[in-house]
Amino acid sequence: MAEPRPRVWVSQPLYADIEARLDEWFEVTRTPRITDHAPDAIAAALADADGALVTLNDRIGAAEVAGAKRLCAVANVGVGYNNLDVDALAARGIVATNTPGVLTETTADFGFALMMAAARRITEAEHWLRAGRWQGWGFHQLLGAEIHGSTLGILGMGRIGQGIARRARGFGMRVLYHNRNRLPEAVERDCAAAWLEREALFAEADHLVLVLPYTPANHHIVDAAALARMKPTATLTSIARGGLIDEDALADALQAGRLAAAGLDVFEGEPAVNPRLLACRNVVLTPHIASASLPTRRAMVSLAVDNLVAAMGFGPDAGRPPSLVTPPTAT
Ligand code: DGY
Repeated sequence: MAEPRPRVWVSQPLYADIEARLDEWFEVTRTPRITDHAPDAIAAALADADGALVTLNDRIGAAEVAGAKRLCAVANVGVGYNNLDVDALAARGIVATNTPGVLTETTADFGFALMMAAARRITEAEHWLRAGRWQGWGFHQLLGAEIHGSTLGILGMGRIGQGIARRARGFGMRVLYHNRNRLPEAVERDCAAAWLEREALFAEADHLVLVLPYTPANHHIVDAAALARMKPTATLTSIARGGLIDEDALADALQAGRLAAAGLDVFEGEPAVNPRLLACRNVVLTPHIASASLPTRRAMVSLAVDNLVAAMGFGPDAGRPPSLVTPPTAT
C-alpha cells in the first residue's frame, strides 16, 4: 500500500491557484471561510497535521501544539511572526517560517504614505470637509508639518526601514535611524542614513516611524517617557506591531498637544482600537493594511507555500526553506 501523504492544514482561504501547489505533495485540509479560530480549534486542526499554513490571526503556542505529535512545520503568511511562540515550536522540533522580502516595497510605500497623511492632516481635513465645515479657502486652515527638508527617524532599520529611508531621499529628508546593530557603512550610504542612540532619535526626529519587530523585550518601547522626549511638532507613525506603543500614553500626548500627530496601522488589541485614540482628531488610523496590495499578498502566499513544501522535505528546496525564522531582527 502506498504511504499516506503528509497532511497540511491551511487556516484561512488565501489564493486557490497558489494553494493548489500544496496538493502535489500533501493531503490538504482547507478553511473555506475567513475564520477566527479559537485556541482549541487550532489545537484540534493541528492534532493530526504534519504542516500548517497560517496567518497573523492564528496564534500558535505551546498549548496549540501540545497534542500535535506529527507537526513538523508552520509557515506563517507574514513577515512578523509574533503570533507564533517560536520557542515553544522549537522545543517541539517544529520549524517556523515567515515571508520577508516580498512585502518590503509595498509596506515601505504605505509607511511613507501614513507618515505624510499624519503630517499633512489628510484624514482630519477630509472629515472636516465632509462634515460641511468648510466655508471657503482659509489662510490658516489645517496647517500641517513639513515633510521635505525635515528629519525622519526610523526605529528598526531592516528591509522595510531601509525602503522608507530610500523614499525619504526623494523628499530631501535627513534620515536618522536606530537599530540594535549598526548597519554596514555601504548600506548606510545607500540609504543616506546615520545611526543614533534610541533616546537621541526620539528627540531629533520630526517624523518618527516604527518598523521594528515586536518582542516581549520591546513591549511599550514607546511609553510616556519616550513620547516626552519627542518634539511637540513631531509625528509618530507605526506599521510594526501594536504592542510597541503605550496607546494611553500616546492618546495623552496627542490630546495635550505634546505630539502633533500620529499614523497607526497596528494596534495592541486589534481589531479593537483604543477608544481614546478613536477620539483623537490628530491620528490617522488604518486597519493593518501596510502590505495589502494584491500582487504583494499573492507573493506572500507563494513564498509561504514554498517555505512549507521545503520545510516538510519536498520540492526543489527540500530541507532548506527560503525564509526560516531566526531570532527577531528588524523587518
Ligand atoms: C506582516 O507581514 O507582518 C504584516 O504585518 C502583515 O502583512
